[in-house]
Order: sequence, then C-alpha cells, then structure tokens
Amino acid sequence: MVAPLRVGIAGLGTVGADVVRLIEVQSRVLSARCGRGVRVVSVTARSKAKKRGIDLRGITWAKNPLEIADDPNVDCFVELMGGVGDPALSAIEAALRNGKSVVTANKALIAKHGSKLAALAEKHGGALNFEAAVGAAIPVIKTLREGLAGTSINRVYGILNGTCNYILTRMELEGLSFADCLKDAQRLGYAEANPSFDVDGHDTAQKLAILASLAFGTKVAQNAVYVEGISSIAPADLRAADELGYRVKLLGVAVRTAKGIEQRVHPTMIPKSSSIAQVMGVTNAVTIDGDGVPPITLVGPGAGGAATASAVVADIADVARGIRANPFGRPVERLRVTSKAPMERHEGGYYIRLMARDLAGTAATIATRLAEQKISIESIVQRHPDGAFDAINNSAKPAPVPVILITYATSEDAVYRALQAVQKDKVITGRPQVIRIEKN
Ligand code: HSE
Repeated sequence: MVAPLRVGIAGLGTVGADVVRLIEVQSRVLSARCGRGVRVVSVTARSKAKKRGIDLRGITWAKNPLEIADDPNVDCFVELMGGVGDPALSAIEAALRNGKSVVTANKALIAKHGSKLAALAEKHGGALNFEAAVGAAIPVIKTLREGLAGTSINRVYGILNGTCNYILTRMELEGLSFADCLKDAQRLGYAEANPSFDVDGHDTAQKLAILASLAFGTKVAQNAVYVEGISSIAPADLRAADELGYRVKLLGVAVRTAKGIEQRVHPTMIPKSSSIAQVMGVTNAVTIDGDGVPPITLVGPGAGGAATASAVVADIADVARGIRANPFGRPVERLRVTSKAPMERHEGGYYIRLMARDLAGTAATIATRLAEQKISIESIVQRHPDGAFDAINNSAKPAPVPVILITYATSEDAVYRALQAVQKDKVITGRPQVIRIEKN
C-alpha cells in the first residue's frame, strides 16, 4: 500500500477553494488513477475567517506559505497566491530546495523566474508543474512537453486571453464599442484586477513566453516578446475584416524564422476558415504546427476557478504518480537564450485602413508609394459612406473615406516606409491602422 501524496496549498481564492473541492470530490478516481491517495494536509491564505464553502476540518491551517514549504509532512507544495515576487517566489524556492514537488498556476512568476525555478527543481529532484498557467484547463503544456516530444515545432500560436477574445467577439457580433465590452468583461470577472494587463497584451505575452520555451527549447523570456494590445481596434476594422473573409483576434505567436524565434502578441487578422477563427467569447485556443504533422488545435476554457483547478489537480496527479518531466521539456542547461526579434524585419501580409482624400489621384498615389517599396496589393476597397460629402458647403471639399488594403507578404519596415510617404503626400488624414495577417 503506497502512502497518499500529502498536499499543502498556499492561497485559497476561487482557484484554491476549487482545488480543495475537486480533490475531495475526485478522491476515489484520483486513488485509482494514481495508484495512491491524494490528501490535502495543510493550507494557508490571507484570511482564515472568509467563507469558502469548503470543508477544512482535519486540515492544518499554516501560519504562512513558508511554513508549508518547510513542513516535512508535505510532499507537494501548491502555490495559488499569484504575484510575481514574494511571498509566492520564496515559498516555491524553499519547497524546491526541500526536495518537494511544486504545482503552480502562476503565469507571471513562471514567465519571469521559470528557468531559475526549473534549475532548482532539477537540482533537488522535485517536479515543477504549471499546466494551469497557460490556457487553464487546456493541456497545452503537456502536449508540447510530452505529447510532441518527437516532433520539431515550427509555430505555436493562439488566443491566450479570454477577456480580449470576449471583447473582440462582442464588438464584432453586436457592433459594440471597446469600452462597453471591457466593462462587461470586468463585471463578469474575466478581466485581471488591472484590465490593462489583459487588453494591452501582457497576460498573453507571459503565456506565450512559456509556450515558446517549451516549443523551441529557449529560456523563458517575457522581455523577448513584442507586445501590442487591442485598444486601437475599431468596429470599422472588424466590419472590414468580416467582408474580406477574416476575423481579428489578439494572438500570441511564436514562430521559427530564418532570423531566429519571433515571439509576438498583437491584434491579428486570421482567415475565417482557420480553426482558431471559430473560437469566440472567453474560450482560449492554441494551434501547434509541427514538422510532418498537420496543425493541432486545442480549444477550451482558459480561465475560471473550475477550469484552472482541473489543470492544477492533473499536475498534482502527476506528482502522485511519480512522473517528473523537465519543466521546460529539456534540462535547463540545454535551454538556449533568446533575444527579441525586431518587428521591422517581420514578414507577412498586412491589412491597412486609411482615411483618404476622395479626389482623383489618391488611389494612384497610395499604390505608387506601396510599389516603391515593392509591396504587392492583394485587394483594395474604398468605402463611400452615406453623407460623406461635406454637408456645409456641399462643395469640392469631400470628406475623407476609408480605403482598405490587403497586401501580399512583405516586410514591416517596407509597410511603414510606404505609409510615411503617403502621409507626406497629404492624401490621407489621421494615423493609418495597420493589422498583421497570420495565414494558417
Ligand atoms: N484574465 C485572464 C483572461 C485570466 O482573461 O484570460 C486567465 O489567465
């Protein structure tokens, strides 16, 4: 008879409470699947008095996370407090130094300290599992680390932030403004405490940095990710994308190029026919392109207590089974350092929306400036909204009209050089809107 795995949990927010509940509810299933029981023996949180709807009788209430990390009666330390630094970091370090296995859902901490913590886990023999840090219940870490261990990966990309996908979906389907959709996302509890973390792309960047490390064997490096959020996306872009057969999503993309590993987060036009374009609302999805394997897309709930608890308990089950994978899929000394790929050198198709002067020669000027940079146009559309002519004098001074261009693959610096020239020609007003296109 193998002794049960003794679990200590620091942090009893929504996820922590759901983990306690799930281990209790699934106790027989876990015993059968792991060949031994899984028992929560110790917990701690900021408030002991808070009502959580879970039965903590028979479980020790520790004074602080470090007490659990140092407790010889705990085999597996589960960190669900969040935060990029202490107390989470020092408690995880202590647990690993004590030879314990660690399970965490903390994407910020893994994105910042992942390599250092993986080295500690390796040295002291414990596991470091963080499935819940990316895409919550979607088993994407395991897929990259274990399921595709024999496959060379060329690109991994996905919708990694539920809040942004919820906002873009409602803007597209209901024609609502960005601000109204963000308010609803906050009311429904999808958004982070500081929603800028979601809408400015940083949450996606942390998750992408973790996926890139697993896919390409690089040291996890959040500062190697180029980041752009969704706040500049207008309903006009979503309408134009729809008409042209695309959708706009905030994607995290990590791709092997001739110039190195590109890691980027930005609003992206993707063909409506792609699997990822079908993913609406708060749902997350990740597509993995590997050599000799058609693309694999994993879709599922990327946030929320129950979804995150599902991944945390799966990680605990691996510890109970005695499975210990290298946290980033290979020994830390084999992980390469990666630098930030300059976006000027990014190559791909572009969507460009300009507010153009509606007079003879404007389209010719724009086309000339693009041609000078050897940019080939796939399509060009000019919309003439009702009442676009200047109403006051009904004269020869027409109001600007939107011109939408899709380019074939080109380089980003060529696009910006062409647009600077168009601006100097004074045939457009305002800032051009530029959205990168990602082909499937
Ligand atoms: N705020 C995040 C999201 C939660 O919207 O996806 C999960 O990381």
